[in-house]
Amino acid sequence: MAKENLETKFYQLLKDTDREGMDSVIGWLKAEGFEKYPASTGRQKRHGAYEGGLLQHSYNTYTLFKEKNEKYELGLEEDTLRIVGMLHDVCKVGSYTEKKLKNGEQSEKQPFKYETDLPLGHGEKSVYLLMKHGLKLNDKEAMLIRWHMGPYDSAWLDFGASDKVKSVAKEVTALQTADQEAAAYLD
Ligand SMILES: [Fe+2]
Ligand SMILES: [Fe+2]
Repeated sequence: MAKENLETKFYQLLKDTDREGMDSVIGWLKAEGFEKYPASTGRQKRHGAYEGGLLQHSYNTYTLFKEKNEKYELGLEEDTLRIVGMLHDVCKVGSYTEKKLKNGEQSEKQPFKYETDLPLGHGEKSVYLLMKHGLKLNDKEAMLIRWHMGPYDSAWLDFGASDKVKSVAKEVTALQTADQEAAAYLD
């Protein structure tokens, strides 16, 4: 899909959710230029290391998460799939800049660098930023976004084993694998 079409579709899918605060979040993302950000620095051949990579990755994660929701009958609502799938990585907004070589050209090996003045972590930073911009998340959505890295999150063991946590374990796995598959095969 051409980038402009994808961008239009992305914002329309979000706008069509019935969620308090979504207009404010969309306004923030547009003002920040969400569609311009990469999804990674490019170091270690990570995914989406190009302008627009974050938009593509976020959409790809949503489509795979939606497929898994149907395949495994997880019962997540469409609004939750969109919010969690498409907004799980908003922590990256504003935190990537071009990595320049001494000669002033952009590095091919690692085209971007990650720098943040809000070091809150990864998933937890996304939750914070969405709530800061007024999005009303439910507990399940907040947990899914927070733990979307699954066992790749260094704090995974803190995820614990309470009944509430167990109630989202399958969904976390679906989201984490959707995220990983998007990065590996689609972005
Ligand atoms: Fe992520
Ligand atoms: Fe991601």
